Amino acid sequence: MYLTKEQEKMLEGEEGEVVEKLMRLLVRLGDIYNADRMIPVGSVQVSGVSYKSIGDPGLEFLEDFASKGVKVKVLTYLNPAGMDLENWREIGIPADFAERQNRIISAFKKMGIVITATCTPYLAGNLPRFREHIAWSESSAVSFSNSVIGARTNREGGPSALAAAICGFTPNYGLHLDENRKPDFVIDVKADLSFNADFGAMGYFVGSAVKNKIPYFRGIKEANTDNLKALGAAMAASGAVALYHVEGMTPEAGLMDTEGLEVIEFGNEELKETYEKLNTGEEPDVVILGCPHASLREIAEVAKRVEGKTLKKPLWICTSRAMKETAERMGLLDVIEKAGGKIVADTCMVVSPIENLFKTTAVNSGKAAHYLPGFCKQKVVFANINDLLEEK
Ligand code: F3S
Repeated sequence: MYLTKEQEKMLEGEEGEVVEKLMRLLVRLGDIYNADRMIPVGSVQVSGVSYKSIGDPGLEFLEDFASKGVKVKVLTYLNPAGMDLENWREIGIPADFAERQNRIISAFKKMGIVITATCTPYLAGNLPRFREHIAWSESSAVSFSNSVIGARTNREGGPSALAAAICGFTPNYGLHLDENRKPDFVIDVKADLSFNADFGAMGYFVGSAVKNKIPYFRGIKEANTDNLKALGAAMAASGAVALYHVEGMTPEAGLMDTEGLEVIEFGNEELKETYEKLNTGEEPDVVILGCPHASLREIAEVAKRVEGKTLKKPLWICTSRAMKETAERMGLLDVIEKAGGKIVADTCMVVSPIENLFKTTAVNSGKAAHYLPGFCKQKVVFANINDLLEEK
């Protein structure tokens, strides 16, 4: 792989031992995937933030790393942490978990990383442009940035994202290249889709069918960015879809040739069957929305639905700190709290230890429905928002 003089010096240890090691990791990765060179990245999103996911070995690694004085070179955000960093007591997080989670956050802060822990960085101040090269980790954020924004990232792991953040570039392979962004399947959408849950169910179905390939959707009549984030998140969970195209909606769809591709049909029957498959529970202990992290529009929609009512079940809405603060300023938080709900920032139902609190969780997210049984030992009620927000 071609390296610039600056990159060669980094590899020779001119910027210290940590940078040298991270450069080796990037070069190795590039060699494995036949990258021709390194490309500068505009931003990074690092995963492996929750104490629940990385435990003591991860915490010790990050503290050691941060103690060596390395700093990130580009705008770098974090994936959700294992708790609301301000209101962890309110959601039943044990003090020893909180202490360790805070040490992880302090280590990231020392490295110059922005302490915004979210899977929707594009809604919270880290918005790449069309065709910009980035190195993001969280699979729904990867899918959204590649597909809806048209930025370019592979599905980075925690270490490769951190290496990109500290070195400032990533090897040029995979989805950074035009030839790897072409669709493999056409998804012929015949189903009636109204809710995020419908898009999540379709994503779950398509991800299971296409695995890590690229689907091209046609026949979606209307979808907003929340619907698309629900779709992409579910496909990235049940499969490993990192890029999809939607005819007439996503920026690269018009450039793609779909002639001769295998066609998969998704109709109302498949939609119904997917809902049935994702439902493993009956009576939920809690309703948790915001997977991926809720946008302000989604929070406002909940507030509108619950205004003046008392909810039958506890409600959490997971989102970024920025969205929560805006919702608070707009009076939406107050409306939701009066109805019995909470807005929980910096974390989510999958990466926080909810298994200590609940047994059955209701969600409207195909991705959360996929992960909750394995990661959090939950039975799942999967439904649309109308059915989930029941009044007392
Ligand atoms: Fe985000 Fe957690 Fe879902 S990281 S995409 S809210 S599982």
